[in-house]
Amino acid sequence: MVDISARHQALVDRLKQQGCIRTPRVEAAFRSVPRHLFLPGVSIETAYTDEAIITKLLNGEPISSASQPSIVAIMLEQLNVQKGDRVLEIGAGTGYNAALIDYLVGDFGQVITLDIDADIVENARQHLLTAGCDRVQVICADGGFGYPAAAPYDRIILTVGAGDILPAWQQQLKPSGRLLLPLALTKNVQLSVAFDRVNSYWENDSAANCDFMKLRGAFAESQEKEINSKAVGF
Ligand SMILES: C[S@@+](CC[C@H](N)C(=O)[O-])C[C@H]1O[C@@H](n2cnc3c(N)ncnc32)[C@H](O)[C@@H]1O
Repeated sequence: MVDISARHQALVDRLKQQGCIRTPRVEAAFRSVPRHLFLPGVSIETAYTDEAIITKLLNGEPISSASQPSIVAIMLEQLNVQKGDRVLEIGAGTGYNAALIDYLVGDFGQVITLDIDADIVENARQHLLTAGCDRVQVICADGGFGYPAAAPYDRIILTVGAGDILPAWQQQLKPSGRLLLPLALTKNVQLSVAFDRVNSYWENDSAANCDFMKLRGAFAESQEKEINSKAVGF
């Protein structure tokens, strides 16, 4: 018989030892949200390994996944969510990261998570309900446009790779807000970068290596062009 709780807590211990989890608040979020509830059909052993788990393919290419727990932890530390924050996540996937953020914002905060595919949204909604996170709003929308209906946000996090900062994310962030995104520097190099708005420019707070699948939807092509032009040095 597999001891689910022991495996869950052992993964959190490992993320802490590796330095991916650095603060007690992020640790508490990880300890309280069971990852396997967001991965039905996946074995408990697999759900509690530090691996990304592909959940949807299109023409043989992965287009959705549960991100690797270590990068989820690193990005949550970068995001520095405060109690009461209003947070927009772009890339709901399984809903796991939204559940962790829901824990961090507490009773007076709000999490809105977007995914571009209706089936992914429906599954994420079910997973979040099973985990008791009934306050998270899961919306089917192209995150390239952000989600103006619930703006402005204290934090915007992308869990899908982008080639540039799109205008909607800038417009929908509070003046004191933080934008965190996996930014492609070249075709093969991606960094999770935290940007703070300071007057009319961005200040970079931190950066970490990452490897996310690319943004789909209306801005996919322009984002791709942006990455290609960076790669040849423009
Ligand atoms: C790596 S997964 C996200 C993992 C997720 N945060 C979790 O905790 O499981 C990336 C997700 O971004 C979604 N995505 C891709 N392009 C998008 C877009 N333009 N708008 C919204 N979601 C998008 C994909 O469908 C996919 O589910």
